[in-house]
Amino acid sequence: MPKRKIRVAFIGIGNSASTTIQGLFYYSSGRGDSGLWHPIVGGYGVEDIEVVAALDVDSRKVGKDLSEALFSEPNIVEKRCEIPRTGVIVEKGLLEDELNPYLASQLKVLKQDKEGVVEYLKKSNVDIVVNTISSGLDKSSIAYANAACEAGASFVNATPTSIATNPDIVEAFKKKGIVVVGDDLMSQLGGTALHRGLVHFLKSRGIKPIRSYQLDVGGGLETLNTMYEDLRDFKKQVKTSSIAEEIDEGWEVVSGTTDYVDFLGNNRVTYLQFTATGFMGSSIIINVNLRSNDGMNAGNVIIDVVRAVMKAREDGLSGNVSDISNYGFKKTLEKKRIHDATMVFESKYCK
Ligand SMILES: NC(=O)c1ccc[n+]([C@@H]2O[C@H](COP(=O)([O-])OP(=O)(O)OC[C@H]3O[C@@H](n4cnc5c(N)ncnc54)[C@H](O)[C@@H]3O)[C@@H](O)[C@H]2O)c1
Repeated sequence: MPKRKIRVAFIGIGNSASTTIQGLFYYSSGRGDSGLWHPIVGGYGVEDIEVVAALDVDSRKVGKDLSEALFSEPNIVEKRCEIPRTGVIVEKGLLEDELNPYLASQLKVLKQDKEGVVEYLKKSNVDIVVNTISSGLDKSSIAYANAACEAGASFVNATPTSIATNPDIVEAFKKKGIVVVGDDLMSQLGGTALHRGLVHFLKSRGIKPIRSYQLDVGGGLETLNTMYEDLRDFKKQVKTSSIAEEIDEGWEVVSGTTDYVDFLGNNRVTYLQFTATGFMGSSIIINVNLRSNDGMNAGNVIIDVVRAVMKAREDGLSGNVSDISNYGFKKTLEKKRIHDATMVFESKYCK
């Protein structure tokens, strides 16, 4: 019997959502699988994901068909795929936080209360909610997780707010028999994944890293938002502890977003330096410079996680499914090395 479609709601129609949704249309239109990390996850193809609902609080997106909202300011993603009219009109979201001055200068807010969001998710018969709102809006992200739970929809948290690592929220999802995964998406090949992957490689070659740092600069609304000092410190701490999952005693590591460069657009440049020791204590220095695109970096991971969450629900799993969180996110309940997390995910969901 053919499987039914996975009904998804995106919250926060920014650059990550725009690229991911473009990818859904791109790979469902007979263009082949090139660039697609895992064509089949949990028995589902990309064409089995259907976006049925969308929320944002920016008046330049609210009330527009998704096909238009995906490319509305302040989004700066490349248009890689024409999107036909979808019939999905972006609905007002909720906002329970005070905006920091960087976000306040960019967003023209239209909002509704949580009850309205619950009704909208129920009416749209949503299986999975993907939360890609701006980071630092902790009360709002928690309110969205609660709204999804009330509406009986599983929740994918791309933001750094503690949701899938919050025991009370995890318990509430478990009671409802639905899944919550997160927190803080790990880009397919961003600075953190590359940093962690290189550590694995060095160690597999018998080299002992002793010190490493990662400095990121980028453009776009989310990087500007991260210039807010408290948020910058918090994200630095999340990235550093994610990398710490790979490292051994006595290794010093520093990692974080360091600056906003407007003309980089949705691109991010990462500078990585490793100091390591080899044979008889000889010194090895490695410098790496990576330029990648934030939106593109989110696409494969989000569509893999969505399909895996659907499969986990079908298999009767609920609460935080660690095998999915460890694969797709930086801040997780269980500590697992990147190589092991990917192997486990692929063996369970990509057969
Ligand atoms: N792209 C990646 O690879 C990646 C990696 C890690 C984490 N993330 C996280 O994903 C999230 C989205 O990143 P992005 O680059 O797409 O950001 P973005 O700034 O491009 O988009 C954020 C969107 O959220 C909307 N928004 C803000 N508050 C909202 C609210 N209360 N309700 C509904 N919509 C709201 C904004 O209007 C905007 O459309 C961020 O939290 C970021 O930290 C992304």
